[in-house]
Amino acid sequence: MTTILPTPAAWPRPLLGDSPGGNPPSGDARLADPADLDAAVRAGAFAGLTRALRDLGATLTTATIAESGLRGRGGAGFPAAQKWRAVAATPGGAATPGGLRYAVANGYEADPAGATNRHLMTQRPYAVVEGLAIAALSVGAEEAILAVRAEYADAVAVLELAVSAAEEAGYVGEDVLGSGRALRMTVRPVQGAYMLGEETVLLKALEGRRGQPEQRPPYPSERGLWGRPTLVHNVATLAAIPWIVVHGSDAYRAIGDPDAPGTLLVQVTGAVASPGIVEVPTGTPLSEILGLAGGVAGGRTLKALLVGGPSGGLLPADLATTPYTFGALRAVGAHVGSGSVVVADDRTCVVDLARLLTRYCADEACGKTIPCRIGLRRMSEIGERFASGLARPTDRGLLADLGADIVGSALCDHERLATGPLATAMRYFGSEIDAHLSGVCPAGVCAPAGVVAAGTAHGG
Ligand SMILES: Cc1cc2nc3c(=O)[nH]c(=O)nc-3n(C[C@H](O)[C@H](O)[C@H](O)COP(=O)(O)O)c2cc1C
Ligand code: SF4
Repeated sequence: MTTILPTPAAWPRPLLGDSPGGNPPSGDARLADPADLDAAVRAGAFAGLTRALRDLGATLTTATIAESGLRGRGGAGFPAAQKWRAVAATPGGAATPGGLRYAVANGYEADPAGATNRHLMTQRPYAVVEGLAIAALSVGAEEAILAVRAEYADAVAVLELAVSAAEEAGYVGEDVLGSGRALRMTVRPVQGAYMLGEETVLLKALEGRRGQPEQRPPYPSERGLWGRPTLVHNVATLAAIPWIVVHGSDAYRAIGDPDAPGTLLVQVTGAVASPGIVEVPTGTPLSEILGLAGGVAGGRTLKALLVGGPSGGLLPADLATTPYTFGALRAVGAHVGSGSVVVADDRTCVVDLARLLTRYCADEACGKTIPCRIGLRRMSEIGERFASGLARPTDRGLLADLGADIVGSALCDHERLATGPLATAMRYFGSEIDAHLSGVCPAGVCAPAGVVAAGTAHGG
């Protein structure tokens, strides 16, 4: 079970704290049975749904989310209420009087180093169910689907129990809290590769179709599942909604970075003393997050932080002051992504790491668009050449050109993001790239390069 790292007592914790919104006590305390509805309700679960339905109604609930400044936690940081309004404004067809719309919780969690979504789904299932119910009812959806990575059998099981208990108690179902509004909620395990987390691929998987990203517009908010307007949110976005509805938009807006308020769950892994998940206000410096995880393990020094998953940015130690928030990370070539921060100590070869990540991203690309399919493969090959002592003097320039071409032709954002590891390696660790160009791996990781440095001539 993933460790939850302690944070200063004064820090608000809408996702993992002890206030209404479906969250059990603070610290690493967990409900004995996270699917126990009575215990969750005693801790505040469904107070947000009750308020949204009985006191606020759809328009005011949406206004509350807009004023809170909540941005999507699935990676791009898109303002949540903007999507809600787009879904609500799009006619849903003639199937029901208001038309048919869908709301989908993206619980795929594509990042292999991520476990924050899994934690929420297994330990805070009612916050996710309640957030999805509030969002769905606010946009006029009558069908809500929790799409969960099939390998997360624990999350699937807990959410199935939670949804059926919520239905029995009238929080979802044919007549939600006696309002006359219907909301059918189901859990759908989904299985696939990395790209399945991308929303248009996820929706196709739910339709039982082969998954490749779609050109946008139209966005899923206009034409999504089965061609109907569909709201897609990451589970962490949804889990914050009950807290916002109960505490109000001002309380949420007061937390963290004013441009992207609230908290983020960060999964800190790699060479740290205490790996785990930590809930931080947006804008918390990376160095502080590293400190909460006990610092670099074994008295070693920090070499790089991989921020944003396999397509993240490799940031040097002197950029550890960067605030952990959407805009600031993007400015330095990283991104929030799935919320993972991987710590690399001084023994790491950044060139080798960037090579591995680029290869992963190239292997996972679906192949639909040529700049991504061919360009990432070429970038990956150049990375392999650096790490094997076979790089050519022109490879640095070629890498930069390829990166620029790929970024300019994005269809689904994977290609833009996937250039990140090598682009940041070149930007911040240029001397290591140069060393590899002359056949030397300063960290001694790329063994063949070392061999070349010992005297073997290699191609130019
Ligand atoms: C390659 C790729 C992988 C993605 N993987 C995920 C994922 O695993 N989970 C997720 O919620 N969003 C993922 N996204 C983002 C989704 O497409 C979508 O923007 C998000 O689910 C919307 O939720 P939000 O509004 O709450 O951010 C991915 C995007 C891309 C381009
Ligand atoms: S950019 Fe890459 S991953 Fe995205 S659709 Fe094109 S080939 Fe597939």
